[in-house]
Amino acid sequence: MAVNVHDLDLPYLDLLNAQTREERRQLVEEVRKADHWLVRTPGGYMITSYDDSVALLRDRRFHQFAAKLAELAGEENAAFFEERRASILTTEGDAHGRLRRIVAPAFTPKAADRLRPSMREVMNRLLDPHVAEGHLELVGDVCDPYPIPIVCRLLGAPEEDWKLFSRWAGDLLRIFNFNFTEDLPIIAAAQNEVGAYVREMIERRRTEPADDLLTDLIAAEEAGDRLSTEELESMAIAVLIAGTDTTRNQLGCSVALFMEHPDQWALLVERPELAPRAVEESMRYLGAINGTARFASEDVEYRGVLFPKDTAVSTSFIAANRDEHVFTDPTTLDITRESAAPHLTFGSGIHFCLGAWLARAELQEALPILARRLPGLRLDGAIEWKPNTVGIWGPAHLPLKFGAA
Ligand code: HEM
Repeated sequence: MAVNVHDLDLPYLDLLNAQTREERRQLVEEVRKADHWLVRTPGGYMITSYDDSVALLRDRRFHQFAAKLAELAGEENAAFFEERRASILTTEGDAHGRLRRIVAPAFTPKAADRLRPSMREVMNRLLDPHVAEGHLELVGDVCDPYPIPIVCRLLGAPEEDWKLFSRWAGDLLRIFNFNFTEDLPIIAAAQNEVGAYVREMIERRRTEPADDLLTDLIAAEEAGDRLSTEELESMAIAVLIAGTDTTRNQLGCSVALFMEHPDQWALLVERPELAPRAVEESMRYLGAINGTARFASEDVEYRGVLFPKDTAVSTSFIAANRDEHVFTDPTTLDITRESAAPHLTFGSGIHFCLGAWLARAELQEALPILARRLPGLRLDGAIEWKPNTVGIWGPAHLPLKFGAA
């Protein structure tokens, strides 16, 4: 007979009081080592182990917690959510499967490879003004601007509109600030503007196909099924929300980590062909996403525990990615590591990151260019980190110097 999770005597981890993200990770590690796969935190129930995190994310009875944003926003903001079509990020079951099947061919490794020349061009252009100076502030100078032109190229938007996309991305990302009353009008305005922009692009692509995502998505067909104009708009918004802040923060995390592990950076400088492994290992060791959450869509029994309908459960990617049962010597950063298990920073299960190949390509192109163009790259002061409570996390300030300076 399963025991109701609310009646279990679980360890309580006061994660909000942890000063640093590393302290948080260690708190979770301690209880996992004491055989607790489930704990209570100020944010609700949380899973501590890799295998149970994967099991939760693959269990279709658990649904995306982001779908509950509407409820969290309260009745006064209900209209905002009612007027909007659910996006790929928050749909489940057959509706989600249909969207994924239609868009999947546009997000293959081959599709991501098409953008590699653009990635190199954008990264080189961002570095050009700094190479002679011998120093830069990586977050503002490089990480923040890097993904926007790439998302524009992906969608097929012209160069002169990059700034517009940057503003829209910033406005749309406010949804995660949980400051609904103030932010929803700004988010709604950005959604309407992106919507109108994308509708116009779709009209043009229908008669003049181009080598971009929108053309692929318009053409994408699964057993005679196509995305409607509304769904295309929603996909473009999902890509802007999911593909910008994640990539820029992960680039910051990866570079910061290598600056703290100069031997591993030296190895990458010497052997740039290790870039794909360096990306996976740095995403395992210091991923930009803390974790994700689900809620039970019905009463769910798992490992002898009953999670009543609507119970929220979160996973900690930070903890799972260093689970000693899965990764040998998990607290060692090793870019030659050959691991059978993937890190969880792109998630797992049906909501696994749709843009994973694109994000990997962006990071795999960025790191060797930084290594080649900024010789002797090293810290030029302390790294300032974003507060460890934000969901998409990374350095806020990363001063670097290079060359003989
Ligand atoms: C390093 C950068 C990135 C990281 C760490 C990342 C991480 C993630 C994670 C963890 C999820 C699953 C969330 C969950 O299960 O609750 C996800 C979903 C998603 N990501 Fe990414 N992402 C990155 C870049 C991108 C890019 C570049 C794009 C698009 C161009 C993208 C598009 C998406 C979409 C559309 C989903 C929703 C998929 C679905 O619900 O079926 N991501 N991402």
